[in-house]
Amino acid sequence: KIQPVILSGGSGSRLWPLSRTHYPKQFLPLYGDKSLFLQTLERVSHSYGFRDPMVIANEHHRFIVNEQAAKADVALGPFLLEPVGRNTAPAIALAALRIAESDPEALLLVLPSDHVIADVPAFHKAVAKAAAVAAEGRLVCFGMTPTRAETGYGYIAAGKPVAGHEGAFAIDAFKEKPDAKTAEGYLKSGGYSWNSGMFMFPAGLILDEFRAHAPAILDGAVKALASVRHDLNFERLGESEFGAIPADSIDYAIMEKTARAAVVPASFGWSDVGSFGALWDIAEKDAGGNVTHGDVIAEACRNSYFHTDGRMVAALGLEDLIVVSTEDTVLVAHKGQDQDVKKLVERCKAEG
Ligand code: GDD
Ligand code: MG
Repeated sequence: KIQPVILSGGSGSRLWPLSRTHYPKQFLPLYGDKSLFLQTLERVSHSYGFRDPMVIANEHHRFIVNEQAAKADVALGPFLLEPVGRNTAPAIALAALRIAESDPEALLLVLPSDHVIADVPAFHKAVAKAAAVAAEGRLVCFGMTPTRAETGYGYIAAGKPVAGHEGAFAIDAFKEKPDAKTAEGYLKSGGYSWNSGMFMFPAGLILDEFRAHAPAILDGAVKALASVRHDLNFERLGESEFGAIPADSIDYAIMEKTARAAVVPASFGWSDVGSFGALWDIAEKDAGGNVTHGDVIAEACRNSYFHTDGRMVAALGLEDLIVVSTEDTVLVAHKGQDQDVKKLVERCKAEG
């Protein structure tokens, strides 16, 4: 059986002011009427034959996680709480250690909590294929067809086919978040796919890889796991122990370095909904190409994104804009600059 591990520590700052530190994007219904976190849980529910999903989240969100899981009638597996964010590598090392305590052979399926997957049957097919490859001692990524020179993703150069596994390839090179020029080159050369941010590997194998490539993270994770205090269904990691682990992402810490990576190219309507432009891409649009949520009147507007939580938004003659109105904030931005929304968040924090 496959052990899902759901990572829920990100803050989604490019979707501010919808996404907030205390209520980040994974908990919002950004696609359909269920939150992205809930949809992630449901994709790996018991009924599909997965083990109860493990969750690793920031402790500020512990009650949101429980509430949403209860709504879905999904039983949670181990639920680890981080006092601070240390990026994905420490979270994955802890998950692997926690699961390996009882079953070092367990196959982990690491899932971001904030992605959209439109075609769930296709996702399950790709997972089944990846599981067979991972079980033979590989760290498996899911390769997405790139459509632009995105610099926020990892890029995978596929190599030789994995013997006995149709549709799986060894990874020749993994490059996390290349600069724009490099990404442009990858896109032109054609041999690259995007890393989806989902991974599959045996718990024992990823721990071996941490030992080889990121021993400080592994050591820190061992100490942090020993510091866990139980409270309700929470497993709370000690603040000083967890905080002492070096911060890094799994992509830099392991995937760029390992010799055991493989990729399963797949297509299941994936989006990481990282920005308002990405939200606009996947949402239903009116005849003018506008997306509207809430009480919005858009006249002679084109290709824009409107969202209001309360007061009416009336717009006239706008093109390629983002307008988001929440209880305390109005964001107006050019759609082409949606990646820079996080700069506004940084300024808000700095300037109070
Ligand atoms: N528990 C925990 N703790 N989870 C975390 C933390 C943390 O400190 N930091 C991030 N996460 C969660 C996020 O909530 C998200 O679900 C997932 O881990 C991935 O983190 P991101 O911060 O969103 O990573 P990214 O988008 O920059 O890059 C990753 O995803 C891309 C695809 O969306 C990489 O794997 C890229 O290679 C990939 O292309
Ligand atoms: Mg992301």
